[in-house]
This record gives sequence, structure tokens and C-alpha cells, in this order.
Amino acid sequence: MKKRRILTGDRPTGKLHLGHYVGSLANRVRLQDEYECFFIIADLHTLTTRPEKEHILEIRRNIHAIVLDYLAAGIDPEKSVIFVQSAIPGIYQLNLILEMLVNVPRLERVPSLKEMARDARLETMPFGLLGYPVLQAADILLPRAHLVPVGKDNQAHVEVTRELARRFNKLYGQVFPIPEALLSETPTLVGTDGTKMSKSRDNAIYLSDDEATVKRKVHEMYTDPNRVRADVPGRVENNPVFIYHGIFNPDQNEVEELKARYRRGKVGDVEVKEKLAHAINLFLAPLREQRARYKAQPGLVDEILRNGNRRMRRESEETMRLVRQAMGMIELAQPSPVRYNLCSPGLVYC
Ligand code: TRP
Repeated sequence: MKKRRILTGDRPTGKLHLGHYVGSLANRVRLQDEYECFFIIADLHTLTTRPEKEHILEIRRNIHAIVLDYLAAGIDPEKSVIFVQSAIPGIYQLNLILEMLVNVPRLERVPSLKEMARDARLETMPFGLLGYPVLQAADILLPRAHLVPVGKDNQAHVEVTRELARRFNKLYGQVFPIPEALLSETPTLVGTDGTKMSKSRDNAIYLSDDEATVKRKVHEMYTDPNRVRADVPGRVENNPVFIYHGIFNPDQNEVEELKARYRRGKVGDVEVKEKLAHAINLFLAPLREQRARYKAQPGLVDEILRNGNRRMRRESEETMRLVRQAMGMIELAQPSPVRYNLCSPGLVYC
């Protein structure tokens, strides 16, 4: 039987952190054998808030960093397809068609878009940012994916995708499966300061951080603000250090024992943090090893992307053929085969 398909991915805004790992990467790695996986590096999505050239010029480096993070985390390019959004002509084409199938008030109700506009300090909503979920729907529907492993912040976008798929199928005939979001079981990981983990807040531990950096960041982590001394009883609930212990420490008996002592004022923050830094470094050790292996082969990341782009373009052409056929947009003349590797915008990056 043919495997069901996954599509998910990230915007290339920088390297990936532990929050990305527990929120989505872990699911992806786990599902690679069971599903045929497509991982998109969504560079066009970054233009929705950052169209300036100076930002575009950072994309190449960010793509490289993210692919290395994927590979380090265990995404296997022999099993899964990793590709760059802007290198796939079908994404622009399907995006335009889907734009006709959703109305503006529906998109205005998507809460994340207002947040993104606010975070980017945009005074009014750009047309393209309002269309963010539509572009994401094009990403998901183009490989006709069944499952979309994402963080909770993307759930509303998958909902828009499902509506678009249903509407397309109803208007033109059955082309798209109705994709489902797969949310991670681990709740969104807080940053080291207890607020939302993000690059701009400088509160993230990156998958590429070395041992010493992890130690430093863990030692600077927020704990219970009311606990001024080690002999004062502390709170473990909502305490970032214990949230991390719960996720990353393989020895949960140790965690329970630390919690009990913490509540009674019988353990210092330093000991709790040292054990946490150790646990996170243990968790990151295999990722570091894998990263080093890929880094030792120059040109490998570019090659992986070239292959992924080629593979995705094939899928995309097949879907777009079905789309045009269903819509009655018959191609009058068979178009001559396009050599995308000569003219595609993906050439800019890889
Ligand atoms: N919107 C995702 C983010 O927040 C990135 C993304 C773009 C994506 N296209 C996607 C995720 C398709 C899942 C499926 O970064």
C-alpha cells in the first residue's frame, strides 16, 4: 500500500531551538518510516513580514543552518524530501488559485496574523501577510499531504487549509485529501526566562549550542522568583528549570527527588541546574555527533536541497496537472519541458 504523506516545515529565520524540537521535530523524526515525508523550508513566507532585501540576503545562510539542524535531529534525506519553497513554481500557481476560494473576513479572524504584524511592527496588514495561511495551504496541498505535524500556533492555518481543500474538491472534483494537523503532546516549551521561547527574546537553547553554552544558559535560567535562598521552600510548578527537567532528564526518579527537596527548601538552584545542564547535554550529544558528520562533507547540504527540489517539482507538476484538469483549464499546447535547474528562483540559494 502507498504510504500516506506528511508535509511540514519552517520559515528560515534562524537556527532551530529546543522548542522546535519538542514542538515538531521529534514528531517528524518519529514518523519518517511510517509516512512519506516532505519538509519545506518556507522562504516565501518570510517575505510576508520581511520583504526587504537585507532580510532576503540572510535567507541563504538560514536555510543552510536549518537543514543542518534537520539532519542533526535525525531527518534522513534518504527517506524524506527536504526542499526550498521558492524553488517550486507550483506553489506560486496553486497559491493564486486558492486565493479565489477564501474570503477576507475569514482570514482576518486568524489570530496569529495580527500577532505577526504586531511583532514585525507593521502598522497595517499587508495583503501577502493576510494570505499567509493560503500560501501555507498551497504548501500542504501541493504534495497532497494527509498529515501536518505542527505546533499549536499553526493549528488555525491547517484549519484554513482543510476548508480550502474541501472547497476546491466541492467546486471542481476530488483532488486533495483533507489534511489533519498533528499537534505535539508536549506543550509549547517556555524560554529560559519563562516567557515564550524565541530568537528575538534571546531566551532559547539552540540545537547547535555547544556544551559550555548550554551550561551558561541553564545557569542563567529563571526559577522560582520568590525563592531568595536555597533553604526557602520553592515552587516547582511553572518553574522553567523543572519544566525542562520533566522533558529532557532521562532519569525521572532524580527529577521527582529534586522536586521533593526543592519544595522543602533542601536543595540549591545550583545543583538543580547542574543536573539539568547535564541532562540537556546528554540529549544533544547524538545531535552534535550527527551534525559533525554532515558538516565534514562540504557541498552535501546543497546537494540534498537540489535533490529535494527536483523531487518536489515532480510531485508539484503532477498535482498541478490534476488541478488544471479538474478546473477545466486545459492546456492547449503541451508546454515544452522547462529546465527549472537553469531558471528557477531556487537557484539563488542552492
Ligand atoms: N507557518 C510555519 C511557521 O510558523 C511554517 C510553514 C510554512 C509550514 N509552510 C508550512 C508549517 C506548511 C507546516 C506546513 O513557521
